[in-house]
Amino acid sequence: MKNVALITGATSGLGLAYAKEYAKRGYNLIITGRREDKIKANAVNLENTFNVKVKTIIVDLANEEGLDILLSGIRDDEIEVLVNNAGFGLKPFFSEVIKEDIDRIMFLQMNTVVILTQNVLKQMLVRDRGTIINISSDGAFAVMPRNVLYSSTKLFILNFTEGLYMELIDSAIRVQVVCPGFIDSDFHESAGMNVVKKKTGFMKFMDPDKIVHLAMRDLKIGRVVSLPGLDVKIIQIMKKLLPRKMFYKIIISFARKMK
Ligand SMILES: NC(=O)c1ccc[n+]([C@@H]2O[C@H](COP(=O)([O-])OP(=O)(O)OC[C@H]3O[C@@H](n4cnc5c(N)ncnc54)[C@H](OP(=O)(O)O)[C@@H]3O)[C@@H](O)[C@H]2O)c1
Repeated sequence: MKNVALITGATSGLGLAYAKEYAKRGYNLIITGRREDKIKANAVNLENTFNVKVKTIIVDLANEEGLDILLSGIRDDEIEVLVNNAGFGLKPFFSEVIKEDIDRIMFLQMNTVVILTQNVLKQMLVRDRGTIINISSDGAFAVMPRNVLYSSTKLFILNFTEGLYMELIDSAIRVQVVCPGFIDSDFHESAGMNVVKKKTGFMKFMDPDKIVHLAMRDLKIGRVVSLPGLDVKIIQIMKKLLPRKMFYKIIISFARKMK
């Protein structure tokens, strides 16, 4: 019997790249998303290309009902790999974010990650085997104007995963948090952000397949916090070396250019 990888948010971008990676490694997949036509087309492509079985669960994971649907949908599956990838950004300044969006982003990027992880982890512990990969962001290290809630939830994911790693140190369960910089995906369009996707330079938009390749290399050598890309490494160095107020100035001027 093939192992199963569950990837949330595999309609596009990084989640789809993870789906391809695990299918290539011979895993059957469970993939989730809200865009039904796209996720179903992805499933057919993955099945035909990699000769694996793909189950799709069409669900909005930014609320309790959606999370419950997912949990019932995976009740009978033995999950070997969980990739908590589904996520979205918000464009407005914090003071202008509507209550519904506050609830949705915090639910998806905290509650869903936590509850789904605990659910899957319990069966992994019985087998003493499995891998949990959580997708954070460079925003976890550098919160920006118009990105306050998003980055705060991504910092939560970073902290949550490092804590989990320590709790599981004596088990055979592997835990990793991936903190990418810009990804060439549907993310910015979905959030209504108008960005020029640079393909070169320090702040380039990276190909999702490349990010997965680098993160899998880190996973293999046991690196818990994966920083796939030069930008996120430079941000960390700047944050360590620069006086805090100078760091804020740089981030603010960068955020103003983005809008
Ligand atoms: N793009 C970047 O620059 C960047 C940088 C750092 C980290 N990240 C993180 O990387 C991850 C993947 O993002 P991406 O860049 O690949 O963007 P993407 O192409 O927009 O993919 C996001 C995925 O999450 C799913 N999703 C979003 N909201 C959802 C909801 N309410 N319920 C269920 N699924 C939902 C989307 O599916 P549906 O739309 O079909 O529901 C889609 O499959 C996210 O966690 C994101 O925060 C992105």
